[in-house]
Amino acid sequence: TSTPIGAKPMMGFNNWARFTCAAQARLDGTRTSYSFQQFMQDQAKAMKDTGLVAAGYTNLTVDDCWMQRTGAGYLHGAATWGSSSQPGFDWELTDYAGYVHSQGMEAGLYSTSGVNTCQGVPGGVKGHEQADANSLAYWGIDSLKVDNCGTDISNRRQIFTTMADALKTATAGTDRKILFNESAPAGYGPTSAEKYNSMDWVRTLGQMWRVSPDIAVWHGDGASAWNWPHGGDYYEGGVYQNLNDTVALARYNGPGNHNDADMLLIGDNNQLTLAEQRSQFALWSAMGSPLMISSDVRRMAADPVTYAPQLNILKNSDIIAVDQDPLGAGGYLASRDNASATAGVDVVVKPLAGGRRAVAVLNKNTAATGYTLDLARVGFGNTGCTRTARDLWSHTDQPVTSSITTTVAGHDTAMYTIDPGSCGGAVPVGQIQAP
Ligand code: GLA
Repeated sequence: TSTPIGAKPMMGFNNWARFTCAAQARLDGTRTSYSFQQFMQDQAKAMKDTGLVAAGYTNLTVDDCWMQRTGAGYLHGAATWGSSSQPGFDWELTDYAGYVHSQGMEAGLYSTSGVNTCQGVPGGVKGHEQADANSLAYWGIDSLKVDNCGTDISNRRQIFTTMADALKTATAGTDRKILFNESAPAGYGPTSAEKYNSMDWVRTLGQMWRVSPDIAVWHGDGASAWNWPHGGDYYEGGVYQNLNDTVALARYNGPGNHNDADMLLIGDNNQLTLAEQRSQFALWSAMGSPLMISSDVRRMAADPVTYAPQLNILKNSDIIAVDQDPLGAGGYLASRDNASATAGVDVVVKPLAGGRRAVAVLNKNTAATGYTLDLARVGFGNTGCTRTARDLWSHTDQPVTSSITTTVAGHDTAMYTIDPGSCGGAVPVGQIQAP
């Protein structure tokens, strides 16, 4: 009778792209008696204090390095997880999950399908699938991200299947289900046949999955977070790379099935300009991606005036509604003028419930660019009928017939929803003809 878990794309916080495993410090830089657990709890409190929880960001996932495995084989918090004045103080995560729940959030954990995590921590689920699932259920954990590190491609499917079953077994007959977040497709490389083939099993096991490389974290400078192309190392992503990889798999999206383009570098993260942060938000929403904030939310809570522009992006309710639309559709690349990999204009269209469509118009040029969006490009072909276009940044409606003309700032993204009103249904996305 309850809503299935993960029906809509996950929204929340993940510490990885902003902090990786770096020792966690208080805002004033001090570390004494400041544990990883306390750090995550402070982020949860900040999520609530900034109003981000009320805006829908309700999952708090702690990524790599939180765990260890005891000699007896049980999963516990790492020594750094507990208070550093009392190492190992809260090796069980019951109190942690309780605190996260008290802030109106769900608690998510990270693991991998092999033995060693991507950071070399020997805490992965391989060989411990049911015991780990039982620990999570006992602690009151709500979601589990399972990575690819330590797994051969040949047995990846089998371990992910075992883990999905273990999570179901551990929570059978209880109210709290554990959402399964799979990194599997991203581990096969950008255009490999295995990546596409994996979608057939991945989407039967979990509710969300990574389809693109890690956004920016490895290089950590603003320019590459924006436009990193497929280079020598596939595992370095960026806004363009992750956009390309995700629109290519749009057809696999649906309620409870979400392509994940990776974390949002919005807020206190320092890898994207404000225009680029608007673009990432608009594009991720237009693709129906999970919206996981990876920035120092404590800093935004401490100084909400300075961070008002970033908080306004993250709380844009019109854009959030596109991401969370009940149809659960993916975003399709409707147009690309191909000026170059890093210039020109891309148009992403997402079908919405009720016959509406969302459209994101990305200006990859550094200079402001005028653009006329032909409504036929997004499937509304019959001209001479007046529809309503809503500008999702200004929250204003305008009547439109055959096109919308706008100027988009450099690296910025215009975004609209188009309501056909009595003009009738749109052409199915897959049948839109090139002009
Ligand atoms: C991989 C994942 C990242 C993050 C790191 C942690 O690279 O893709 O999202 O979880 O591992 O080590």
